[in-house]
Amino acid sequence: MNILLTGGMGFIGSHTAIVLLEAGHNVVLYDNLSNSDASVLDRLETITGRRPSFIEGDIRDGIAMQKALANIDVVIHFAGLKAVGESVHKPIEYYDNNVNGTLVLLDAMMKTGVRRLIFSSSSTVYGTPATLPLTEDCPTGEATNPYGRSKLHIEQILADVCRAEPSFSAICLRYFNPIGAHPSGLIGEDPNGIPNNLLPYVARVAHGTLPYLKVFGNDYPTPDGTGVRDFIHVMDLADGHAKAVPYVMNNTGWIAINLGCGRGYSVLEVIHAFEKSSGQKIPYQLVERREGDIAANWCDPSKAQRLLGWSATRTIDDMCHDAWNFESRKE
Ligand code: NAD
Ligand code: UD1
Repeated sequence: MNILLTGGMGFIGSHTAIVLLEAGHNVVLYDNLSNSDASVLDRLETITGRRPSFIEGDIRDGIAMQKALANIDVVIHFAGLKAVGESVHKPIEYYDNNVNGTLVLLDAMMKTGVRRLIFSSSSTVYGTPATLPLTEDCPTGEATNPYGRSKLHIEQILADVCRAEPSFSAICLRYFNPIGAHPSGLIGEDPNGIPNNLLPYVARVAHGTLPYLKVFGNDYPTPDGTGVRDFIHVMDLADGHAKAVPYVMNNTGWIAINLGCGRGYSVLEVIHAFEKSSGQKIPYQLVERREGDIAANWCDPSKAQRLLGWSATRTIDDMCHDAWNFESRKE
């Protein structure tokens, strides 16, 4: 299969590229490098023995998109901006990149006859869960920030496109909390500046590049009072995309599918798992809740099992071990 990965040089896209290359697919990475760099290509080649094609371009460039779509069977659409806090201050940039960028991509797909799309959605579309675990039938529509709303808008746009074009197939993969790295330690999550997300922050504290972790809230209605999330190894997530490829080829219409492990770990449990994997102490302080955070979320992943034949296999210890393996190789 010829598969185009928008945003394919980023964290999830590059790990997915490994699985697709190893499965024998032809992979084209299309990325403007706004949050990644070209060295990923060498690393992918070292890991897989194959070098994917790379096109430096923006998804909002319709002409470049049409060119890139020649002979493509499936698009996996990772490209987008993803920092929740930043999205509150830069809503126009976020809607332009994420929503407008997707519209330009869809228009280019229509013009080139490409009808198969797998989209990076997020558990953020569920907002504050009324019940757990979250199934795909749980209500959406309460995202609290422009990033989350951009994901909801895109899901709805894709549903409308599928209604208008019965030959179109769109899968919205709702990721829970992807963490970890490829076991080689050559690629992983490496945000610029001070990380917002838990795992990259913990990894830097373990490495000594940040002094201590702030644990945001210990008065949630959870077993130890700290937030609970469904962390999923990025290589399991990558496998989920590979399993979605035959599904999107063989079905039409719109569908949403959760990708998570189906169980939650608290912030304190993650800290202890990371300490065990890394052998490093993670100093932390309990501080106020972070605005916009929810107490807990985890998913029911049975739809992915039923329809894609996929389930996560890696443990929280694997996730911490591989994240540390990546982090500890840095200077
Ligand atoms: P990432 O920032 O590492 O990767 C995104 C890639 O897209 C980057 O390489 C960036 O350079 C590229 N990009 C951004 N805007 C672009 C544009 N206009 N044109 C071309 N390329 C562009 O992020 P990630 O963690 O790999 O996330 C991938 C997707 O998954 C995103 O859509 C994100 O919103 C979604 N997602 C991520 C998480 C997470 O925790 N990482 C959770 C849920 C959903
Ligand atoms: C965040 C985003 C979500 C996005 C997801 C991607 C918010 C509100 N939500 O989810 O939209 O899809 O990232 O993975 O930002 N924590 C600390 N200290 C820290 C960092 C985090 O205690 O320094 C806690 C948080 O309070 C939370 C848990 O760790 O309980 C996980 O946080 P994080 O990794 O930022 O992910 P989410 O908030 O779940």
